Amino acid sequence: MKRISSLHQYCHQYQKSIDDPESFWEQIAEDFNWHQKWNRVLDWDFQTPQIKWFENAKLNITDNALDKHVEKHPDKVAIIWEPNHPDESVIKLSYRELHDETCRFANGLETLGITKGDRVIIYMPMVVQAAIAMLACARIGAIHSVVFAGFSAHSLADRIDNCQAKLVITSDGNFRGEKTIEVKKLVDQALASTKSVQHVVVFKRTGQPISMKTSRDIWWEDLVSNISTKHQPTIMDAEDPLFILYTSGSTGKPKGVVHTTAGYMVYTAYTFINVFQYQQNDIYWCSADVGWITGHSYIVYGPLLAGATTLMFEGVPTFPHPGRFWEIIDKHHVNQFYTAPTAIRALQAYGSDLPKKYSLESLKVIGSVGEPINKEAWHWYHKHIGRGRCPIVDTWWQTETGGMMISPIAGVTPNKPTFASLPLPGVQPVLVDKTGKILEGMNVKGNLCIQFPWPSILRTTWGDHQRCKETYFSMYPGMYFTGDEAKRDHDGYLRILGRVDDVINVSGHRLGTAEIENAINAHKNVTESAVVGFPHQIKGEGIYAYVVLGDDSSMDHDTIIDEIIQEVRLFIGPIAKPDKVLLVPDLPKTRSGKIMRRILRKVASQDIQQLGDISTLLNPDVVQEIIEKAGLAS
Ligand code: WT7
Repeated sequence: MKRISSLHQYCHQYQKSIDDPESFWEQIAEDFNWHQKWNRVLDWDFQTPQIKWFENAKLNITDNALDKHVEKHPDKVAIIWEPNHPDESVIKLSYRELHDETCRFANGLETLGITKGDRVIIYMPMVVQAAIAMLACARIGAIHSVVFAGFSAHSLADRIDNCQAKLVITSDGNFRGEKTIEVKKLVDQALASTKSVQHVVVFKRTGQPISMKTSRDIWWEDLVSNISTKHQPTIMDAEDPLFILYTSGSTGKPKGVVHTTAGYMVYTAYTFINVFQYQQNDIYWCSADVGWITGHSYIVYGPLLAGATTLMFEGVPTFPHPGRFWEIIDKHHVNQFYTAPTAIRALQAYGSDLPKKYSLESLKVIGSVGEPINKEAWHWYHKHIGRGRCPIVDTWWQTETGGMMISPIAGVTPNKPTFASLPLPGVQPVLVDKTGKILEGMNVKGNLCIQFPWPSILRTTWGDHQRCKETYFSMYPGMYFTGDEAKRDHDGYLRILGRVDDVINVSGHRLGTAEIENAINAHKNVTESAVVGFPHQIKGEGIYAYVVLGDDSSMDHDTIIDEIIQEVRLFIGPIAKPDKVLLVPDLPKTRSGKIMRRILRKVASQDIQQLGDISTLLNPDVVQEIIEKAGLAS
């Protein structure tokens, strides 16, 4: 694939992608292996919504991520695996080995009766087998849904139930820093309340004793022993679903974002190669987890489609010491490093002397994703990790967009700290005001929408197309609404300001406030609650919960607060644990009964100077009481 290598080329390619999107993407698609080519590049309407890219084309994505490279460079390393503990051995899998392991597992899945269209849940640690499991599903046409292993049994059960998964792939346990997590137990709990799952495949990682249910549970090793390393990939339609990935929104339970095969393939490969300026012998590392979209698109699919060497790290940034990330970069001579602002801020807190102990000279490009990056973190990252010489790619995108949307192209787009900068080719962002009017020109701020489809846009939300329409395509008819606010400066550069809906971004993890409230409200003494985000030094946003107890609660308040936190861990997972629980007599409400979150946000961020007009509230007195409870009364 030809790479964009100058600003001039970027401008030219961008213009081409707007003037004639179909021929632009058609040309890029020519670089892939197709069983049958498309008879139409794009068919779309954002009303239904209905979007089809590369209509009637036939392919298998693993043919492009594996077989194609096995032909050209079978011995090139596809995946480097760095274990949780640095004393354990590194694993390097060549393209041939990854191909063979994927085929073995694909054959194994077929012996369990898994076929095209079946849903398979992957609930695994960051081991090579997680990538193999995803690829094997794609090979046979099964739709994978990876659930981040930090989610609770309850969250897992919700997802299994929603997509009616037939199979769960998991491990006996997970290593995460000093902790060992008993994931198989969580799977057993989840399966006690769901009916669709017929088998559980268990990969042995920790070797801890676990219970295996006869005829349901099977060890990974047993499934793939004496099985062929050849597998004819299932021929998929361009628009067959590739995977479902659950993500949180303003309301209700997380929804299953559906991505389809061809468009996702073309777009993730294209953006990976261009944004990171990946060169054939580079070592690339993205520190995300495969449980998130970043892991799907830029640990597994994008890099492998590009024939790259992608590093997978099992552990956490601070184990066994806070120099671990920098140590890994030196150990494996990483050329492109992609992480989240929350990790940068957490490591920045250990001081600038720490990265000085490492060479970091292999680095060429450093990236950021998941949340707005603040100025201090941007400069620290640039100076102490990029050593002033590496461009930063601040990539804005979402689970729903499948791939990066607004981002510098490394070394091509001039950097401006904290700006995601310019749209990638094929992406047509607009800023709109509350009425949906497009804000033209420079120096404007508004809600960020995209007015034309790109190949990896979500197609639906699993089992509920109406919800997809309402969430993304109804607010501003004819446009995809991102949920983010952004500003465009005098150079036309875009800076993402954050969510404008009830979604909070905690350490780059996306959580719905309604979801957390539901978990809190499940506590028997709780009458009502409201959750808001507040600025947090390391996490970006922290979780602040206002809780109203019932009259009958004579329990000790500290105990109740502990129980509430426990409840959230159990319902969602440790990532959703409130940083602060404040017991309050009531919540501020409008006369129509709507909770005034604006006021709660102000109190949570200790910014009570301008609370605005509260006289129209149903219960204005409660505001002062809350301020006192929060310890902010003067
Ligand atoms: C939300 C999407 C993109 C993969 C990881 C997160 C925020 C993401 C940036 C960025 C500012 C960002 C947005 C977006 N976000 N990247 N570079 N600058 N904000 O995917 O969990 O679907 O979350 O993350 O608010 O809407 P996600």
